[in-house]
Amino acid sequence: MEIERVQLQSHGDHGGMLIALEQNRNVPFEIRRVYYIFATEHDVHRGKHAHRHLHQLAVAVRGSVTFLVDDGSGAAEVVLDDPSQGLLLGRMVWRELYNFSDDCVLMVLADHLYDPADYITDYDEFLREAKGLVFPAELVACQSA
Ligand code: TYD
Repeated sequence: MEIERVQLQSHGDHGGMLIALEQNRNVPFEIRRVYYIFATEHDVHRGKHAHRHLHQLAVAVRGSVTFLVDDGSGAAEVVLDDPSQGLLLGRMVWRELYNFSDDCVLMVLADHLYDPADYITDYDEFLREAKGLVFPAELVACQSA
């Protein structure tokens, strides 16, 4: 599921709308962390990183935002502007977030706690790891043992 747009089932009537997110049901991982981004300033670019292991589901519960997603072999823009749509991001996806509407509230579910060591913040390093040109440290340790 490295990068996938998903439609979330809405339960609605004249009283309003409700969407439930459940681990290992419509969210294809265990939910260990939820965070949300809001009050973003105009022209701000966020993200600019990839994760070595993390899986995430992003939902613009209010407003809109554009994701640039790049798996190392090509990039695409995805606009999230509907609370019933989610964007699944698997491991090793470079992402940049921009065009936040003033009212945007972007909620993100993740399958691990916050871990700065899981981030790749250098794009060239991301490309090297995505293309398999860099061995994870634990494998290098095994090979030299
Ligand atoms: P960061 O991941 O850099 O945000 P973005 O990719 O959207 O630009 O995180 C911004 C700050 O928030 C940084 O100081 C780390 C902190 N942070 C946490 O403490 N916990 C979290 O779960 C996340 C995602 C960030």
